[in-house]
Amino acid sequence: MTKLIQIEDLHYRPDDLPPEQPDILRGIDLTIEAGAFVALLGENGSGKTTLIKHLNGLLLPTAGRLWVDNLDPREDRHHRALRSIVGMVFQNPADQIVASTVAEDIAFGLENANLPTGEIQTRVAAQLAAIDMTADADRPPHLLSGGQIQRVALAGVLARRPKVILLDEPTSMLDPLARESFLARVRELHRQGMTIVYITHHMEEALLADQVVVLQQGKVVMNGAPTEIFSQEDRLRAAGLRIPEAAALARDLSRLGWDLPSGILKSEDLLAALPACPNPQAQNRPSTDTPLDGLADGALIQLEAVHYTYLAGSPLAKPALRGVTLGVSARQVHALAGANGSGKSTLLQHINGILRPEQGTVRVGSLHLEVPDTALRTVVKQVGLVFQSPETQFFEVYVGDEIAYGPRQFGVADLRERVRAAMTLVGLDFEAYKDRRLTTLSGGEKRKVALASTLALDQDILLLDEPTAGMDPGARDELLTLFLELQAAGKTLLIASHRLDELALVAGDFSFIQAGQIQHSGPRQDLLTNREALSAAGLTAPLAVQASQALIEKGWPLEGLDTTTPNRLSAALREVQP
Ligand SMILES: Nc1ncnc2c1ncn2[C@@H]1O[C@H](COP(=O)(O)OP(=O)(O)OP(=O)(O)O)[C@@H](O)[C@H]1O
Ligand SMILES: [Mg+2]
Repeated sequence: MTKLIQIEDLHYRPDDLPPEQPDILRGIDLTIEAGAFVALLGENGSGKTTLIKHLNGLLLPTAGRLWVDNLDPREDRHHRALRSIVGMVFQNPADQIVASTVAEDIAFGLENANLPTGEIQTRVAAQLAAIDMTADADRPPHLLSGGQIQRVALAGVLARRPKVILLDEPTSMLDPLARESFLARVRELHRQGMTIVYITHHMEEALLADQVVVLQQGKVVMNGAPTEIFSQEDRLRAAGLRIPEAAALARDLSRLGWDLPSGILKSEDLLAALPACPNPQAQNRPSTDTPLDGLADGALIQLEAVHYTYLAGSPLAKPALRGVTLGVSARQVHALAGANGSGKSTLLQHINGILRPEQGTVRVGSLHLEVPDTALRTVVKQVGLVFQSPETQFFEVYVGDEIAYGPRQFGVADLRERVRAAMTLVGLDFEAYKDRRLTTLSGGEKRKVALASTLALDQDILLLDEPTAGMDPGARDELLTLFLELQAAGKTLLIASHRLDELALVAGDFSFIQAGQIQHSGPRQDLLTNREALSAAGLTAPLAVQASQALIEKGWPLEGLDTTTPNRLSAALREVQP
């Protein structure tokens, strides 16, 4: 094996860092072999993005040394070569999109490299086909969904045929199908010999790698094969991480006295290891008719037959909502689940008045949002929206001002306390972050600021668009707990996401949106076990539901019980266990 990347005692400290703050990278030693697939893990702000920016020369070390394919990024004469062998997909891929159509964007790097036109066309066509976007070649990238933008960004990088690709949370915005096909492509690139450095907050994705590196506060704290790393739950937790979901569920089931093979990490291994029910006949079926509340009649948010088309009347017209009917009960957490491009974000923006329906009605409490003179200001007092890409929501330069921005517009008196309280809710230390420039924050930190700036307004209704994307596992758990606390405090939450495992932890009511229409609405247990509804919406059942369906096939009397999360599955099994 040849060493492709070698990093020795690397330190990084930006010029503007206050003296009391430690270096951002603090003595990194790391070797990566040619052809390796490295998963780089670590909590928000641990230094992952900063580290990989050193590999293509975007950042230069303050101290220490590194080589990539015998090139030294500190040497100016190596820069061009370095850029051509190292391709990077940024954490926020929208930043990477530069051209006015998808095809031009993919061609951009090739034109800069002065490739012949015919060669450029061939490569662009191949990349478009690989991401299944040939039909979108002439569309403007800013009209694509978040997931599509991510795929275009990767296509642009791959078209240049690099030796190493650096992927910074590439799947955080992708729905399950897109994510699976993306991962299949990454595996294929790895098989072809490409070296891959892959940043992710999803432990399941890290299982695909052959080397897992964990960063914490700018240092490498773990480095080894996935099986070795994921057998150390306590150390992972201390670093803000978790073991994979299947491993956690296997552990829960072992606690019920089940004899499962040790070292289960992957979902398919867990599902295959589930035991048959020892004596299926003998069991008392618990009463299955636990009443599940349907949607209340008096919905707080009610949309009827809402239609909305982007660029209506132009050749690029794109119908996004095609007759949406949706009711959200007061004081509930309602999940809006759907694939990339299904219309989730467009729908949310109708509920806080940013978009007005072309047809149909949108009622929020006593407000009629389809009526043009319903003032936005009145709506905003009641309804908060956290956008999918938080940086598009920022107005200010400093964190504290950003969070104070909304409350200040409404003349809130105790501004400083409001800001402090909102920051505490999302886990941002007030003193440490209030004077930080927004541009210097990590991806996850930005998302927390966006959330805090909405929470500071203390609105009754919160609309959250993919709120956990980009959050580390520890922060994600805290956020989900916060949602339950907000509900308990009387707020109504509507959360758009394609992560059903997370939604199942917090939401009681579910709606599946597909191609601009709500196809199914109902209580959690009904929707998450409805295979046809899930597959039509392009969604994957949570692992706990998959496990319970496998157990039912093996004779376990779990029908009708709520098994939508690992805890609920364990509780249900405890009830029916002989
Ligand atoms: N100019 C700067 N001044 C102060 N702090 C900075 C500056 N630039 C980066 N940081 C801090 O360095 C830390 C590492 O940032 P980095 O973007 O590498 O984190 P990350 O591991 O990629 O996090 P995430 O998972 O949230 O993307 C963060 O806490 C960030 O706030
Ligand atoms: Mg990052």
